[in-house]
Amino acid sequence: MAKVTVQFTCAECGTTSGRWLGKCPGCGAFGSLVEELHGSTTERAAAVARKPVPIGSVASEESTRISSGVPELDRVLGGGLVPGSLVLVGGEPGVGKSTLLLTALGEIARGGRRALLVTGEESAAQVSLRAARLGGTESVEILAETELDAVCATLEAERPDVCVIDSVQTLHATALASAPGSVAQVREAAGRLLRVAKEADVATVLVGHVTKDGAVAGPRVLEHLVDCVLQFEGDRYHEHRVLRATKNRFGSTNELGVFEMTAAGLVGVPDPSQLFGTTHAGEVGAAVGCALEGTRPLLLEVQALVAPTDLAMPRRVGTGVDPKRLAMIVAVLGRHAGVALASSDVFVNVAGGVRIEEPGADLAVALAIASAARGVPVREGVAAFGEIGLTGRLRQASQVDRRLEECAKLGIATVVAPPGGSSRRAPHTTGVETLRAALRAALEAKPPAEEAA
Ligand SMILES: Nc1ncnc2c1ncn2[C@@H]1O[C@H](COP(=O)(O)OP(=O)(O)OP(=O)(O)O)[C@@H](O)[C@H]1O
Ligand SMILES: [Mg+2]
Repeated sequence: MAKVTVQFTCAECGTTSGRWLGKCPGCGAFGSLVEELHGSTTERAAAVARKPVPIGSVASEESTRISSGVPELDRVLGGGLVPGSLVLVGGEPGVGKSTLLLTALGEIARGGRRALLVTGEESAAQVSLRAARLGGTESVEILAETELDAVCATLEAERPDVCVIDSVQTLHATALASAPGSVAQVREAAGRLLRVAKEADVATVLVGHVTKDGAVAGPRVLEHLVDCVLQFEGDRYHEHRVLRATKNRFGSTNELGVFEMTAAGLVGVPDPSQLFGTTHAGEVGAAVGCALEGTRPLLLEVQALVAPTDLAMPRRVGTGVDPKRLAMIVAVLGRHAGVALASSDVFVNVAGGVRIEEPGADLAVALAIASAARGVPVREGVAAFGEIGLTGRLRQASQVDRRLEECAKLGIATVVAPPGGSSRRAPHTTGVETLRAALRAALEAKPPAEEAA
């Protein structure tokens, strides 16, 4: 039998050492040595040549996806859990990871499959307290265990259809000396669970904590190992939560699931446009945009505040928008649309804690800023989408017809967007070519009447 040895490997340059060192002797990096297990407990048999098969003759498993029973979660997963896959769910403390996954397990168990919850973070009694609040989770099996070998052995023996590990940071392998939650432990746990998941055909969901810098703990050590990485976002002070995939081997990464946190658990919001895409008529500094997340168009309210400042470098602060794109939009507004912002702070916020990344939302951000800077509201019943170029010319966003249909569904009268689109259900589209023309079409001519003092 080969002996299992513990080695320390530098994460930067790969230098190995028999003991831990603060500074890597190879590259001089500090604190980069990570504990690893080397060698295996079983002697490797002589390798046997295997016969490759044509890919067409491999049975596809698409039809066997396990529905989680939570439609918004299924959507983000790309249609349900794939048997034998490993999914990582990350999120800030208290955002509702355990709640969401317990709900899903309850639904899976009710559908007649075996669902197992391995809890290392909370005791079985604490979980049952939550289960009582959520309801419908009686047939979920539970195991309170933090020992990695015991968890793997249980999975191999019991072979449930779906298993949730809450959380991967609490598991520990006894062979490693480092503390649970360290890079070495988390990596070892994920690697072992990956093997067990594939061999025993258990769809495994790992809950991972987000560290201070926002990455799933262990400097993103798990992301390349697992099949799917889901991020659960939203702040604890609002009831809305957004679930998105940052990696998915079996589906699109742009899908979005929206939930509302209630006393009875997380409730899916099937029509988020209704929720996020409404502005108050006549309000200065608010515009409705239509962003596309995966296959789902989403109407969003974008708010902006423009305030005079004495700072040499005025602030451009965006919540839910990319700071680089925000800086670009502010510059194009100043240069090509006559909206001077050089001595003003600009704040932009996307309603509902949603983050928009695609360039099709540029125009709505620009409208909100221009409205705030000029003190005139966006016309009533107007939505906007389109990408802003550096020359001040607008470019059509992708999948125009889908967006137009969503606008029509929510009773938008006019869409300010570059020409294009052929949907018959579309509202009136202005077909503007430049940012300047878009501002003319979308903004009211006069500021709102001052209320009598
Ligand atoms: N009775 C209740 N009514 C409404 N909301 C509740 C209730 N109890 C808990 N919550 C919500 O559930 C959230 C905690 O959910 P959960 O324990 O699933 O989070 P988590 O992401 O698993 O957290 P952790 O990282 O600490 O494990 C709380 O932030 C709170 O918003
Ligand atoms: Mg939890």
